[in-house]
Amino acid sequence: MSGLREKYGLSADMPCHVAIIMDGNGRWAKRRGLPRAAGHRAGMEALRALIESSSQFGVAALTLYAFSTENWKRPQSEVSALFELLVEYFAREIDELHANGVRIRVIGDVLPLPERSREALALAETKTDKNSGLMLNLAINYGSRAELVRAMRSIAADVEGGALCPGDIDDDLLAGRLYTAGLPELDLVIRTAGEQRLSNFLLYQAAYAELIFTDTYFPDFGEEEYAKCIAEYQRRNRRYGGL
Ligand code: FPP
Repeated sequence: MSGLREKYGLSADMPCHVAIIMDGNGRWAKRRGLPRAAGHRAGMEALRALIESSSQFGVAALTLYAFSTENWKRPQSEVSALFELLVEYFAREIDELHANGVRIRVIGDVLPLPERSREALALAETKTDKNSGLMLNLAINYGSRAELVRAMRSIAADVEGGALCPGDIDDDLLAGRLYTAGLPELDLVIRTAGEQRLSNFLLYQAAYAELIFTDTYFPDFGEEEYAKCIAEYQRRNRRYGGL
């Protein structure tokens, strides 16, 4: 049994795939009289414990909502600071992530990102591609609606070209055209900082996921709070529409 599971009295019934809406960086900073960028930096610092404890808990896949298709509406200075943080994060952490067997994937449309950030992400993906530990997925310029539109277009093109018939389209085919193709079924979505909505995150994938909302701002979301969320998940009775 995993030592960390034992520490928090968790059973072996772990969520295979956890997704986190990392909210509250701005409020965390405001409460301290700091600029919003300082909140994002503190959020970045919180990632280390989250990733490490995911591996130790035995979670197979962790998907983090780092930048949504709607986040472009923020001031240019905040958007730039976020993308610069991404570059800094990988420059600092990639070797350790790789040594720990973490496999990094980006979900979302990275084309509009600054070149430096795109390069850092591509390097992280390539370097860790063969790793077999935690599957760490960063949702960047990700939106569920855009993801579904992209999948529909790809299927429609195949139907138009004659490679598919409309009758071939089923759940598996559609799931295979999403950014999350090949990842385990989503079991648990955690949102920090009090808001109780999905904000265009993994809408299709969350069909039977358990949703847990915590008031803690993301920079303060650590191993203990994570364990509490998993304990709550383990108390839930998942019926998938059955009895
Ligand atoms: C939401 O908080 C958070 C974000 C939009 C960005 C998340 C980014 C990080 C956790 C750090 C960088 C990530 C990586 C992968 C290096 P908010 O700004 O909406 O907070 P608020 O609702 O309190 O204003």
